[in-house]
Amino acid sequence: MKHGKIVVGITGASGAPYAIRLIRMLTECGIEAHVAVSALGRRLLFDEADIRKCEPEALVGPDLAQLVTVHNDNDMGSTIASGSFLHDGMVIVPCSSNTMGALASGMTNSLVHRAASVTLKEGRRLVIAHRETPLGRIELMNMERLLQAGAVIAPLSPGFYMRPESIDEMVDFMVGRLLDLLGIDHDLSTRWESSPAR
Ligand SMILES: Cc1cc2nc3c(=O)[nH]c(=O)nc-3n(C[C@H](O)[C@H](O)[C@H](O)COP(=O)(O)O)c2cc1C
Repeated sequence: MKHGKIVVGITGASGAPYAIRLIRMLTECGIEAHVAVSALGRRLLFDEADIRKCEPEALVGPDLAQLVTVHNDNDMGSTIASGSFLHDGMVIVPCSSNTMGALASGMTNSLVHRAASVTLKEGRRLVIAHRETPLGRIELMNMERLLQAGAVIAPLSPGFYMRPESIDEMVDFMVGRLLDLLGIDHDLSTRWESSPAR
């Protein structure tokens, strides 16, 4: 990791616990998290995680808050809107179909969209942790378009082969896979070791 900075977009799809855990893991690794949250993303943070004000303390607690910057999603003048802001990758988690469609068509009407589009044009890693089911043709076409543009499509679909016993373990499984995709070492339980069939 060259710059010690990851950009995190949070949009209005179900899965706020993934975003919160990911930001916590980043900061525990000493990595700066630059966070932009769409209006519907804020609603989901409240609905699913009781976060009323999207502030660093609310996302990670006071101990690691200094590593988190929450950028205004309406502020296109924010640092992360510019290609000159050096970072090690961006993840949108959870990513709504709306945001995926905007990215696939090159629309940048919010900071999440702009930061993601800049990440792609600069040839940096963009991980799209999309959540919706079922998927229609438009979502699949948008995914293909973004894949061709260099994004990694990582649907939020936790596996069961690690035998999760709680929601937290299922969240950790998915967050571990996202950290892998961002090139960040972690010790979350995600690695399958083959055992003889019973
Ligand atoms: C409670 C709730 C749950 C939602 N879950 C999803 C979802 O899982 N996936 C999705 O694509 N959209 C979902 N939506 C719809 C999006 O929030 C909506 O399309 C919105 O325009 C997304 O805007 P954004 O991309 O700027 O965050 C949900 C909306 C609400 C209110």
